[in-house]
Amino acid sequence: MIFIGSDHGGFLIKEHIKSFLLSKGIEVKDFGTNSLSSVDYPDFAHLVAEAVSKDSNNSVGIIVCGSGNGINISANKHHGIRSALCWNPEISALAKQHNNANIIALPGRYVTVLEAENIVNSFLNANFEGGRHQNRINKIENE
Ligand code: RB5
Repeated sequence: MIFIGSDHGGFLIKEHIKSFLLSKGIEVKDFGTNSLSSVDYPDFAHLVAEAVSKDSNNSVGIIVCGSGNGINISANKHHGIRSALCWNPEISALAKQHNNANIIALPGRYVTVLEAENIVNSFLNANFEGGRHQNRINKIENE
């Protein structure tokens, strides 16, 4: 199961990612938005982040806004969420390998649909490396 969400700036890329994942037989839960009408990115970031943090199957999330920044910042306010802004496949692989990211945020206005597919594939195919990276993750939360 992959949880997805976007604002209007990420809507088209989010829709493409949904079709892409479904075509690969991956189950998707889409928290919206459902059109190009202007909305507020935190509303969708919080829905996806809550779903990922409550999920017991280590499910991950994919969120998209225009720049990727607003939706990423919002998701990272949730305890246990490590959301990584990813704009190419190398960065999304590293987000899993080094940061054990459980959400990736894409800049919908700055990636093509093919780039988005490659970013998502690279993240889903990568594995967390643990070791020194786990020690660093243990130092992230400060509450
Ligand atoms: C919406 O215009 C835009 O501000 C939003 O999609 C995102 O880029 C915010 O960080």
